Amino acid sequence: MKDASSAVELKKAAALRASSLVESGMLVGLGTGSTTAFVLEELGRRVREENLKIECGATSFQAMLLGRKEGLLVHPLMFLERFDISIDGADEIDPQLNLIKGGGGAQTLEKLVHSMSEKFIVVADESKLVKNLGEIFSVPVEILPPAAAYAKKKLTELGASSCSIRMGLKKDGPVVTENGNLLLDAKFAVKDAEKLETQINEITGIVENGIFSRKSIRVNLAIIAGSQGLLEIKGAV
Ligand code: 5RP
Repeated sequence: MKDASSAVELKKAAALRASSLVESGMLVGLGTGSTTAFVLEELGRRVREENLKIECGATSFQAMLLGRKEGLLVHPLMFLERFDISIDGADEIDPQLNLIKGGGGAQTLEKLVHSMSEKFIVVADESKLVKNLGEIFSVPVEILPPAAAYAKKKLTELGASSCSIRMGLKKDGPVVTENGNLLLDAKFAVKDAEKLETQINEITGIVENGIFSRKSIRVNLAIIAGSQGLLEIKGAV
């Protein structure tokens, strides 16, 4: 099993490399999660120490709070229509750079921000690489609360082997998203990521799901840190 401290160091290495690609004048989309947290810390350091001049939008309360703590100028998303660059983590990455995201429940705003971005960079340690999506993680699905039972039934009909409402930690009851919705974690063995992403979103009451395969939000660059160093995989241009 991988040593936890080495996984943290790998996440940091990927995050630092991605942060170095941010330049003054850029509008930056801030991702969510423990890997991206290192990106935000590094951007904050560069703003304070290197006079980096950027403006940002955030994919979650976590990113907004941390970004502001780091001294970044974070605008509400509703006032932004594009980003120059966005950087985010992932739960699984397949060889075609399709992703499962939403371990932090933020996939809906993550998908919005990365759709708005000219360049979407994924940062991760090598444990996130899989042959096929769904090997380890379930697909997080954001649903309108009244659709919970219906969406669960339809996801099961689509082939989910299990499907459950995500529950809070240190909060009784379900996790409530930034958008006031609930999350279902649906376990799929994903064969065709683009098809499944579309099929899930066609179910009434489902807001968005954590498969990132559509061309509009394809990954432009994946920076993967492993024991052998940094691997950079170019995606869509
Ligand atoms: C949050 C996400 C995260 O980017 C994903 O869960 C990876 O997190 P971490 O960097 O902590 O491993 O999609 O919704």
